[in-house]
Amino acid sequence: MRIVANRADPALLTLPWSLPLDQWTEHVVQLPRGLSRHVVRIVRLGDATYAVKETTEEMAFREYRTLRDLQRIGLPAVHPQGVVTGRLDAHGEELPSALLTQHLQFSLPYRSLFAHGLSADSLPALVDAMVVLLVRLHLADFYWGDVSLSNVLFRRNAGGFAAYLVDAETGELKTSLSRQLREYDLTVATENVFAELLDLQASDSLPHEVPAHDVVALLEDRYQALWDELTAAEQFSPHEMWRIEQRVARLNELGFDVDELDIVTDWDGEQIRIQPKVVEEGHHRRELQALTGLNVEDAQAQRLLNDIASFTAHFDLGREDRSLVANRWLTEIYEPVIDLVPPEARGKLEPAEIFHEILVHRWYLSEQAGHEVGIFETARDYIDRYLMEKPEEQLAADE
Ligand SMILES: Nc1ncnc2c1ncn2[C@@H]1O[C@H](COP(=O)(O)OP(=O)(O)OP(=O)(O)O)[C@@H](O)[C@H]1O
Ligand SMILES: [Mg+2]
Repeated sequence: MRIVANRADPALLTLPWSLPLDQWTEHVVQLPRGLSRHVVRIVRLGDATYAVKETTEEMAFREYRTLRDLQRIGLPAVHPQGVVTGRLDAHGEELPSALLTQHLQFSLPYRSLFAHGLSADSLPALVDAMVVLLVRLHLADFYWGDVSLSNVLFRRNAGGFAAYLVDAETGELKTSLSRQLREYDLTVATENVFAELLDLQASDSLPHEVPAHDVVALLEDRYQALWDELTAAEQFSPHEMWRIEQRVARLNELGFDVDELDIVTDWDGEQIRIQPKVVEEGHHRRELQALTGLNVEDAQAQRLLNDIASFTAHFDLGREDRSLVANRWLTEIYEPVIDLVPPEARGKLEPAEIFHEILVHRWYLSEQAGHEVGIFETARDYIDRYLMEKPEEQLAADE
């Protein structure tokens, strides 16, 4: 037997590799699983949690390398851990190879979202998350080949979602991704999502009135709109130079940073043409991380940055150093609020999502009370009345 791993975890050797994966019991986190082509199990080893997928040696290595490429360029995908080959059972018979990935914490397969009563109103938010993922992959010249809801994991993101690629079996990083391949990915996405929505309806997890056609049409429209916003050229006269800043601000609002902007003027300087060349998602995430060290999803970061801005205004700290103020907010507001969450509720939602929900709850309580309700009072009320009732999501089931 051979293990190829980027960060060796000696505990991996203690797994029962001489048994077929579907017969493992030790270390396996017992979760209801949806249907999938391969046998996939989640195992816990000490502090680490991994997903193990049985497949052929060739496919395991291919997917492992592809996931490493995605990790290297910072795209949202599960992190590869290693490949196990040369497995033999007790009778010396060969067993399939296995791909190990790190379990993505607080991620939700779409079936579990719907099983826990996600309403049809949230479909556009799911579609948006998928669109952002697909556009980011395409901007990096990654061809996916098998875009579907079941090959995505969702993480909560300030009331919306962030999508991560979980199945890279058919994916490939190209030197340059043609328009045809992008369109092909989009077609596959619409076909798969359509079928998956009908499946959800067949199992009564999604109301039958929800028009699956409209949802996939939305997917196509939002993809085109985001792609154009991020890549299209724009022309204007020299009297409209503010349009450069406006374009960058629009992209920032969408959560993207413009790392390279192409600005061309024609020979007589009558026309200016701008085109974003390198854009990267994570505008708010990077800003928050630089200020506070917190590493969260982009919309969560935007929410927290807004709260830092309110804190700054409330205590009239606008003239102080921004990172000092952010640090005060962190130690006087954010951390004490999160510390109110009892240990047994920590696996329900991530801290940044809890904070977001508390902010929403405060808005609601304040409106009822007719005056601003304090954050700590709100937090206690939210935890008692809502958080304690929520299901565990740190390690969610597939159904
Ligand atoms: N690293 C991970 N973290 C969390 N969940 C994971 C991870 N890897 C796999 N899973 C879960 O296992 C499921 C199946 O994984 P994957 O898509 O790679 O296998 P598959 O056999 O191709 O499945 P399918 O045919 O359903 O697409 C995923 O949808 C996801 O729910
Ligand atoms: Mg899959």
